[in-house]
Formats: sequence, structure tokens, C-alpha cells
Amino acid sequence: MDKILIEGGRSLKGQVRISGAKNAALPILVSSLLAEGSYTYSNVPDLKDVESIKQLLSNLGARAEAHGDKVHVDTGRILSYEAPYDLVRKMRASILVLGPMVARLQKARVSLPGGCAIGARPINLHLKGLAQLGANIILEHGYVQAEAKKLKGADIYFDTVTVTGTENLMMAAVLAEGTTLLRNAAREPEVVALAEVLNKMGADIQGAGTTVITINGVTSLKPVSVSIIPDRIETGTFMIAAALTHGDVTLVDCEPDHVGACIDKLRRAGVRISVHEKTIHVDGNDEIISVDVKTQPYPGFPTDMQAQFMVLMSIANGTSIISETIFENRFIHVGELKRMGADIKISGNTAMVKGVSGLSAAPVMASDLRASASLILAGLVAEGQTEVNRVYHLDRGYEAIEKKFSELGAAIKRVK
Ligand code: EPU
Repeated sequence: MDKILIEGGRSLKGQVRISGAKNAALPILVSSLLAEGSYTYSNVPDLKDVESIKQLLSNLGARAEAHGDKVHVDTGRILSYEAPYDLVRKMRASILVLGPMVARLQKARVSLPGGCAIGARPINLHLKGLAQLGANIILEHGYVQAEAKKLKGADIYFDTVTVTGTENLMMAAVLAEGTTLLRNAAREPEVVALAEVLNKMGADIQGAGTTVITINGVTSLKPVSVSIIPDRIETGTFMIAAALTHGDVTLVDCEPDHVGACIDKLRRAGVRISVHEKTIHVDGNDEIISVDVKTQPYPGFPTDMQAQFMVLMSIANGTSIISETIFENRFIHVGELKRMGADIKISGNTAMVKGVSGLSAAPVMASDLRASASLILAGLVAEGQTEVNRVYHLDRGYEAIEKKFSELGAAIKRVK
């Protein structure tokens, strides 16, 4: 199994290009199931999760091939309506095929994703909404089976803000008869990006990016060619890396508007950040000051940046309170960071992080995608050689991470 070795203590300097967003690419690739034909997606990141969604599409009978940063999908022949356990267990986002398959094929059988390291992650709100749209839903043998001759528009309220839940129901509702309202909808940029793609395909969606999305059903859609938006979590991760190593880094091809909460927290922590169109410049020369952070749905501070921000706070001057409000078990990285010398105490969903003067390298184990990123960041500043194991988590969501860091001057390498 691969490992990543990092010799800490180098300041990052230079320019890094931000890749396309994993969490935008996944639902957008799936949206190709809604209309027969050929699609070309560009700026698609080369990631394990993208590979998994391509496999899932191929398993359904579609053709999905990558050429550089482009993915061509042909959904002319859909032969199966089943997403099997073996594919879904690799990636929870596979549940996104449920809505579009019922909308186009009148039925779908998708393995229930189950929990994951960061929490139980139920899909009850996806299922409740689909039932409100008129689907008959049966749960048996670990699968959800949904059928509907024709979905009908409905007024749907989400008890909890859910990103893939909003995306799934938006894709189900575009071909439904009549109007659907999604209330307390997720406002993440990835939801907006999906709505824009669907509208380009001929859908009629209004209000994406606000808490109420209105979808007027249409009778058919057509294939499109679109580009994937930049990854805001990769952007945030590189901004923190620059700050952490007292570096000077320019991030290009990113979307500064999507990382507002992160920029605000970093500025309060004493990091100098300037923004110009699709570029962010981070100057981390000043002392890092502790600031409190609470994760929230967008436009709040993202849960997907919590672990990385905690690393920065672990060497800041002062004490920071970090509250995780989205997932119940998203402090798994804390044990590993403490082994590297961080001073962190957890009480319920809150971590108290007392800044220390430095971290010390250790062999550590990655437990989920963003926790893995936090261990890489810790390795960049720790004294000595950090060995990050189980890096397959990292490969799910960060394109060429060790190459990008080493081009910025980090001493980082992957060993087989
Ligand atoms: N929830 C329910 N019922 C549901 C759906 C969600 O109770 O039916 C709860 C969840 O348990 C959680 C909260 O609602 O407590 C929010 O979960 P959400 O559904 O928004 O998460 P998700 O859609 O499964 C996406 C991202 C995650 C990201 C979260 C939160 C994708 C493919 N995944 O997950 O990304 O953390 O939104 O922003 O878009 C990652 O990239 O590392 C990652 C985990």
C-alpha cells in the first residue's frame, strides 16, 4: 500500500493550479443519465471517486471514458437499473444515481450506502423526497428499490440541509410533471453548478444557491458539454498550507467567491490574502493567531475544511474552539495530531485547540479524505519525517497532491 513521506519545515513558495471540484464532478457526471446522448465534461479532476462514478455509469450500460481532463459519456444504451453494493460501498455519492434513474427509467435499485468513518450519514431525506414525488420505495436486502411511472411535482421540505439530497431530488424533479419546491435546500456552489448544467440541458430550475429551489418539470432534456467548477476544498487546503508553512503561494484557476468563509477566518488568524479574479495570493509571513471556527452549511465554514484548519490552529498563538455541527464523528484526525504533539481536548462536538510552538513528525494513519489532508499539512510543518499511511483516502479527492506540494518546494514523496 502507498505511503506519503514528508520532511517538514520548508516554506511553500510559488504557484499552484486548482483542479476541478470532486463534489461538482460527481453529480454532474451522473446527470448524464437524464437524457440519451453524448456528453463531454472538461476540467474533470483525475481522482479515485471520479473513477468510481465512471465505473458505475459503465455498469449501467453507459460509456464513460477519460482523455486528459475530459470525460466523454454516452448514455445511449442504459441496460441496467441497478447500482450494486460493490460499487456503492466504495463511494457513498453513488446514491446520486437514484433520482435520475427513476426519472428516466421509471425504476432504480441502489445499494444502501451505510455509514462511514465520519458519521452514520442516513439517506432518509433523499427517500422521503422521492416518495413525495410519487415514487414507490421498498427497502430490502440492503437495497433501495424505487419505482414510478411518472414522477409528479411536490412541495418538499428538508429537515436538515443536505447537499447530495438536494442534488438527487433536483435531478428527479426536472422530468417530473408539474412544479417541485425544495425548501431548506443546500446552497453549496456544487448545487448551483449542477442546476446550471441541468438548465443548459433544457431544465427549468430557479433559485439554486438560495434556500428555496423551484423546478418546473419539462418533458425532455438534451446532452451538453460543460466545464467543472474549481474545487473550493482543494483551494482552502492550499491556502492553509501556505499559511502554515509561512509561505508565499499564488493559487490560480480558483473561485475566490466560493471560499469566503475560509478567507475570512485566515485573515482573522493574521494571514495576508489578496484576491484578483480567479487568483488568490496567500502571504503567511506573520504570526498565526487563534480564531474560533464552527462548521456550517454553505456559505458557513465548511466541514470539509475543519480538519485542515485545526492543524493551523494547533500551532497558532492562543486557544481556538472548533465546533463540528455537520457530522457526529469528524474528529478522527485529533488522535493522530496529538501524537504529533498537538494539544487538543475534545468535549462532544467541540475541540479546544491550544497552540503549541511546533509539531513533531510521526508515523500516522489516514482515516478519511479530509483527515488525510490534515495529516499531510501537519507533516509539512512537523520537525522530522512524517509517514502518512492509508493514502488511498487522499487519492479519492486530491488530484496529484504530492506533485503539487513538491512543486511548491515541499519535501514530499510517495513510496509504494
Ligand atoms: N443527513 C440526514 N439525512 C439525509 C441526508 C443527510 O440526516 O437524508 C444529515 C447527514 O447525516 C449530515 C448532514 O445531514 O449530518 C449533512 O449531510 P449531507 O447530506 O449534506 O452530506 P452529503 O451530501 O452526503 C456532501 C459532500 C461531503 C460534505 C457534505 C457536507 C458530496 C459528494 N459529498 O455529502 O463531502 O462533507 O456534503 O458539506 O458532495 C468530502 O468531500 O470529503 C465529503 C465528505
